Amino acid sequence: MSKQTSRSGTFTQKADDLLNQFNASVMFDKELYKEDIRGSIAHSRMLANQNIITKEEQQQIEDGLIRVKSEIESGEFEWKIEDEDLHMAIESRLTAIVGEVGGKLHTARSRNDQVATDFRLYVLRKNQEIADKIKSLIKTTHHLASQHSTTLIPGMTHLQHAQPTNFAYHLSAYMSMFVRDYDRFISSYNRNNISPLGCAALAGTPHGIDREFTSKELGFDSVSINCLDTVSDRDFALEILFNISTLAMHISRLAEEMILWSSYEFKFITICDRFATGSSIMPQKKNPDVPELLRGKTGRTYGNLISLLSVMKGLPLAYNKDTQEDKEGVFDSVKNIEISLEILKELMGCITIHKENMQNACNIGHLTATDLADYLVSKANVPFRKTHDISGKAVKRATELGVDISELSIDELQKIDSRIGEDVKEYLDNRVSMDARDSQGGTSTNQTLKQLEYFKNWLELL
Ligand code: ARG
Repeated sequence: MSKQTSRSGTFTQKADDLLNQFNASVMFDKELYKEDIRGSIAHSRMLANQNIITKEEQQQIEDGLIRVKSEIESGEFEWKIEDEDLHMAIESRLTAIVGEVGGKLHTARSRNDQVATDFRLYVLRKNQEIADKIKSLIKTTHHLASQHSTTLIPGMTHLQHAQPTNFAYHLSAYMSMFVRDYDRFISSYNRNNISPLGCAALAGTPHGIDREFTSKELGFDSVSINCLDTVSDRDFALEILFNISTLAMHISRLAEEMILWSSYEFKFITICDRFATGSSIMPQKKNPDVPELLRGKTGRTYGNLISLLSVMKGLPLAYNKDTQEDKEGVFDSVKNIEISLEILKELMGCITIHKENMQNACNIGHLTATDLADYLVSKANVPFRKTHDISGKAVKRATELGVDISELSIDELQKIDSRIGEDVKEYLDNRVSMDARDSQGGTSTNQTLKQLEYFKNWLELL
């Protein structure tokens, strides 16, 4: 029996070894074997339903494909670059098992709609798996946040002490990002849950196929509109790359904070030994390699996105081999974001929070300077621009005396502005200041608890 190959009778020379090495994708697209076999079984069932092949032929093909799958899973299957890609490799092995009838599977199909189907199914599955991992991360973050709605931490802008906030509020900011990330993966799933199968090479097929049938068999919501677009569309892959990049960027920002917080200068958290690393030379060191790698891996996810955008930009319709470059970057980004989400979740569950240090850090940097300005606005009806200036003078005086603004005596404050009353002291307290920011979405414990409630409901509703 002749070997299954994409080279038809028109070729007069056998494929050069160098061509095989350059052209083959089998060493990486084998990742899609489950989707490829699912797609082929669905396609063969449709062919039988439409009387394009007989029921017996379909059964032989399906049994053969199931056997190929088990050979792949047991490691028995031999992947060879001469087969070019996983589609040819599987078809080749199928035909070796079931004989000539294996060659009927490719009726009314092309590798162009086949790869579009396999890759889309893989990306759809990964959208859901990544979304599930984001949800677990939010759950652990929520658990940690629930214990810290009254734990003061200096809120910063420009990495400078700005205003007192609480640690749960800080974590609630990250949960907000992760919820948006989750939504992006789910909406991408919903938007792209469309079947390419049956588009064949680019223009459809003269065989009487039933695209609705294969679409349902494979769990798609609908059938694609235009085959020319379908075989060359990689928007779904770009979307997951963008969504992973944005998620990685959020993770990277949290990782950066964890790196700072675990330094001697901050001492806000300690990373548990289970996830800390040592130095090969300095015995005293515990390094935050995990958050550093979380931050570092973000770069390659951007690279993978830019790389596929660049591959796609100049392609004339429809399929071009350039598109084969779509897979490795997606596999890489998916693999890295999956392990990143898993390890970050573990980290959030095991870090020690040094509450005292967070709170003590609020006594440096005149965090309640804005409160003094706000106090004069409310108390003496002074325009904020003026009170901003007055409070600045108080900061200057406090700095000269080497104290925090909250430690200035009433005398000192009244020397700066006589409208300041004895009652000002309570306004300059960090906790009072934090709880005063009770506007919607603000940092007060009251508002923070509402935010935590929102995320709790969000987690329960899913
Ligand atoms: N290995 C190819 C890819 O990943 C499959 C499609 C090949 N189609 C073709 N007409 N050469 O894109």
